[in-house]
Amino acid sequence: MTRNRNLTPERRRRYWRITLASVVLMVVGAMALPLTGYLYVGLSDAYAQGGGAEDSNPRANYWRAVRAGQAGSSADGVNYSSVTGRPMPGSDALWLNRETENLINGDGQNWRQIRNRVIAVYGGWILFGLIVVMLHFYAIRGRVNLEDGASGVKVLRWTAWERFVHWVTAVSFLVLAVTGLSLLFGRSILIPLMGPEGFSVWAAIAMGLHEFVGPWIFTPGVALMIAMWLINNLPEKGDIEWWIKGGGIIGKSHPSSGRLNSGEKLWFWFIATFGVACIVTGVILAFPVEWAQTRSTMQLSNVIHGASALLWIAFWMGHAYIGTIGSEGSLEAMTTGYVDVNWAKQHHDRWYEEIADSAEHVTVQQPAGGATGEPTTAKA
Ligand code: HEM
Repeated sequence: MTRNRNLTPERRRRYWRITLASVVLMVVGAMALPLTGYLYVGLSDAYAQGGGAEDSNPRANYWRAVRAGQAGSSADGVNYSSVTGRPMPGSDALWLNRETENLINGDGQNWRQIRNRVIAVYGGWILFGLIVVMLHFYAIRGRVNLEDGASGVKVLRWTAWERFVHWVTAVSFLVLAVTGLSLLFGRSILIPLMGPEGFSVWAAIAMGLHEFVGPWIFTPGVALMIAMWLINNLPEKGDIEWWIKGGGIIGKSHPSSGRLNSGEKLWFWFIATFGVACIVTGVILAFPVEWAQTRSTMQLSNVIHGASALLWIAFWMGHAYIGTIGSEGSLEAMTTGYVDVNWAKQHHDRWYEEIADSAEHVTVQQPAGGATGEPTTAKA
């Protein structure tokens, strides 16, 4: 048997990290297992709600047909309605549709099932699971350090304008994430913690912040980022190889990359598609009467908004991990704008080759034992 004391300090640290990670995995796994029962109950309820359950009561089928708005469900062959529809703008004709023509509109119940039992439950567990996975990953893999250490010579990676747009959008994203999650999990998590009165105050603040920051700060920020960085995110030779090598996260080899690597490109295109869907549906929800949205439109928007928002938060967690504790020198790039030349060669070699001759190189005073430092002297 290998005795622990025979291990090198580095291997011993690794040994303890793996042990700790395994214990956390076992504890969380054991806690998560009983949830399968909850999942079963949730799915059977949703199934029964959709009319999939065996039903021997013929009246139930009748009312189910009425609820589904099927023609001929009511006695005179026309669907019943307690409301006759609202007038169309500029006309006396009534606006008849799925919402006003039938007696029972079950869409609201279906929407509630999807929101509360699918999006909130699975989304919540996915986010929680991701935190556990990331902690594990960090415990096992540790930080990706500069292989050759810091050279003390830096080049500009992000201009002041790029950093300004990035941070304004990032801070507003966090505000939207915190306030949005508060609305989604308010009933299940916050009301038991804060009480109904406390939550009602916070919900009003959260809703106000969400509806202001979303359209007026976050949306222009995302639009600017898409316009600014589109050119850097187009596919190029080398993207496939980057994926084959797992982005250098798995194993030791560093795949070649341009200004943005393929993982960053995926993040960009996620924002340009799912992110934009989240924004568009958010605006539809925030201005409910401006375009005469129907309830069905609002319900569908809410489902798309909630699901894409949770996906976005999950993706963002990975982005934030790599940008902070996951990789040495990355955060500094977005705070100071500068990166060490060795960082550029290690992570974005093709980009560095392109700019090496034209970029201004700056020497820095190295803080003792550190890789960071403020640029002080410029040399040609
Ligand atoms: C232009 C941008 C956005 C606008 C206008 C917007 C607007 C809204 C509105 C009006 C709601 C409905 C609240 C309700 O009455 O239940 C909502 C819910 C929500 N939003 Fe946003 N939002 C935007 C972006 C985002 C982003 C980027 C995220 C994630 C980071 C996000 C996360 C959420 C979440 C989790 C909910 C709760 C869904 C639910 O309760 O079913 N939103 N948003």
